[in-house]
Amino acid sequence: VNLSQHHTFGFDAHCRALKIIQSKDDLHSYMASNYAKAPLMLGEGSNVVFLEDYQGDVLLNRIMKREIIKLGDYYRITLGSGEGWHDVVRWLVEQGIGGVENLALIPGTAGAAPIQNIGAYGVELSDILYSVTYLEIETGKEVRLFNQDCQFGYRDSIFKRALKGNAWIIEIVIDLPIDWQPKLNYGPLKSLQNHESLTPKSVFDKVCEIRMAKLPDPKLLGNAGSFFKNPVVSAKTHKILLEKDPSLVSFALADGSHKLAAGYLIERCHLKGHAEGKVAVHANQALVLVNQGGGTASQLKRLVSKIINTVMHTYGIRLEPEVRLYDCVGEYIGVVDG
Ligand code: FAD
Ligand code: EPU
Repeated sequence: VNLSQHHTFGFDAHCRALKIIQSKDDLHSYMASNYAKAPLMLGEGSNVVFLEDYQGDVLLNRIMKREIIKLGDYYRITLGSGEGWHDVVRWLVEQGIGGVENLALIPGTAGAAPIQNIGAYGVELSDILYSVTYLEIETGKEVRLFNQDCQFGYRDSIFKRALKGNAWIIEIVIDLPIDWQPKLNYGPLKSLQNHESLTPKSVFDKVCEIRMAKLPDPKLLGNAGSFFKNPVVSAKTHKILLEKDPSLVSFALADGSHKLAAGYLIERCHLKGHAEGKVAVHANQALVLVNQGGGTASQLKRLVSKIINTVMHTYGIRLEPEVRLYDCVGEYIGVVDG
């Protein structure tokens, strides 16, 4: 079965079989009858790249549910894991419910959101998540984890660590305050700080406007968002780098370390717009790699090596992929550089 419509990078890749999952019962019956067919769950495929044909089955998550209840001073929102994240954000914002508007236009499903703890414009899912319910693949048991047990970090959670490959997320619950306060500390949102009568919808519109100006629409140009994570360095390393490059873009973190803008590092290495075959560094946002159509995994690997090696040589910093790379049997753990 062709997978190119099911992952936003759009490489030509196939899998053995594709199954649409609409309920947890579908998952239970799949498990009962398809033992050891190496199933891989996908939402919208907006954070994966298939480097080869995948030998196992792909399960497309379409488990739908939306429910809002009012509890004291907040709304508790239960979402089926197959709900589209941006659709949910718009649906909430249109009802005047805020707290999610900074996370507008992030592609993908609600169920994938906790996996890398999606984040944008100063808000992370972990700020609003209450719980995640998943099916433990080894045992078929349903387990509910609360926020503090998810080991959330920057683009990180327990689902990328101890539970990797052993959890199918079926439902998430988020809590949003009834008394809304806008979060406007992130760069381009600061321009809204002096505006009166802001609403979740007006912040939502601004976030959409900023994102549309620099991030490519995967429907028009294959991509998986930021390809690398923003590297975090110690205060000492940050000081040395800043002496060498006074215009270095970075954000101080609470523990004294600094998060560097990898897009800046790539741009300063003169790689913005650089292409290997049909795979290129996006011209408006150097952290995003794009498939201009007909790109191949070997072109991508060449480009990734070039970026990692050049940034390493210039800044002494090793960039790590943020996207999930898959080969024929599972997550690709090969070294991409060198
Ligand atoms: P997929 O890509 O389908 O899957 C990602 C991983 O999660 C895979 O390993 C998959 O096996 C696993 N998985 C998916 N669903 C489940 C499930 N129900 N149970 C268990 N495992 C599952 N991310 C951000 O954090 N911030 C951004 O601002 C942002 N902007 C983006 C902009 C663009 C244009 C694009 C293309 C991507 C962007 N991303 C961003 C990345 C992406 O949107 C998120 O990672 C999103 O959560 C992925 O959702 P998905 O449903 O597409 O997951
Ligand atoms: N920059 C450059 N050149 C570039 C790109 C960025 O100099 O080509 C510099 C600019 O100075 C800019 C700064 O980097 O001010 C930060 O850029 P931007 O606001 O676009 O954010 P980012 O650090 O590149 C991160 C996330 C995005 C998220 C935005 C907004 C990661 C890996 N990426 O990108 O998430 O939307 O912040 O919060 O943390 C994703 O994960 O797929 C993703 C798109």
